[in-house]
Amino acid sequence: MIEINEIHPNPAGIKRVAVLTSGGDAPGMNAAIRAVVRAAASQGIEVVGVRRGFSGLHRGEMHLLGPRDVANTIQRGGTILLTARSRTWRTPEGRAEGARYLREWGVGGLIVIGGDGSFHGGYHLQEEHGIPVIGVPGTIDNDLYGTDHTIGYFTAVETALDAVDKLRDTGASHERIFVIEVMGRHAGHIALDVAVAGGAEEVFIPEDEKPIESVVEIVKQSVEKGKKGSIIIVAEGYDGGAQAVGDAIQAGTGLETRVSILGHIQRGGSPVSSDRILASRLGEAAVYALMDGQKGVMVGRTSGGITYTPLPETWQNSKDVSHDLYRCARVLSI
Ligand code: F6P
Repeated sequence: MIEINEIHPNPAGIKRVAVLTSGGDAPGMNAAIRAVVRAAASQGIEVVGVRRGFSGLHRGEMHLLGPRDVANTIQRGGTILLTARSRTWRTPEGRAEGARYLREWGVGGLIVIGGDGSFHGGYHLQEEHGIPVIGVPGTIDNDLYGTDHTIGYFTAVETALDAVDKLRDTGASHERIFVIEVMGRHAGHIALDVAVAGGAEEVFIPEDEKPIESVVEIVKQSVEKGKKGSIIIVAEGYDGGAQAVGDAIQAGTGLETRVSILGHIQRGGSPVSSDRILASRLGEAAVYALMDGQKGVMVGRTSGGITYTPLPETWQNSKDVSHDLYRCARVLSI
């Protein structure tokens, strides 16, 4: 029989925590909010939900959230707390306002679900006002050091892959080249996974700014090998994006080329199981981290276990794309 201890020690004496989502939305954010609310309730801790991220925090947009308030949300995309990117939070005055509201509400710690920009915002609050902050990695880009995957990434890859499969039908039928841009402001994680899973001829990522002209030779070789159409995946962060790659192909080969920028559809939709499970584990772990007296760390999952990474390290260190996967993408496009 598996022994389960449901009561977590609370040396920090936490009675109430706040939670917010910030930056770009990501599928699974609701599952993370739900996990925070329910894990806290299981320990007799109250949760204050902050609406509109830091933007709402400095305006005091807060309300209590109970376990029933998060019912029927685990499968929903977006974030029930709403999200925003806040300019005011970048000022010490804005953060002081937010800290005042958190104190008024008797909050012993803040859980920030978001990406590196959001973690910066949380870290400043902690440094200036002594309020413990725990980060939960929520971004489709998967670009945070300290966790194998971020919440939303798995769903974004599935969404992009579905689009690639559909575009491939048209590409093959018309014997066209399709250049498809996936999201990833500074990172090629989505692009690389989609390239391998979608059987692409080539992938362009910001981590390896190879010359754009190289695509011309690759497409010419594909045609010589008898391929009916080609799929080229480009990460948004690659210099010039998909349009530049498409233009280079058209100019260098004269072949009929179409560019498709998938954009924000990758951020929406019901989270796949891997994102729901990751969000559930990390939301729970964030509550326990505050109870343990931890602060200024991001909870992550690395090699199956829960890990705690100091917030500055999550943005100071870069998370490498898998070189092996990059190699594999090349080898299999023969
Ligand atoms: O950080 C997630 C992300 O989806 C990036 O991939 C993209 O560059 C950016 O957000 C888009 O942000 P916005 O919602 O402000 O257009």
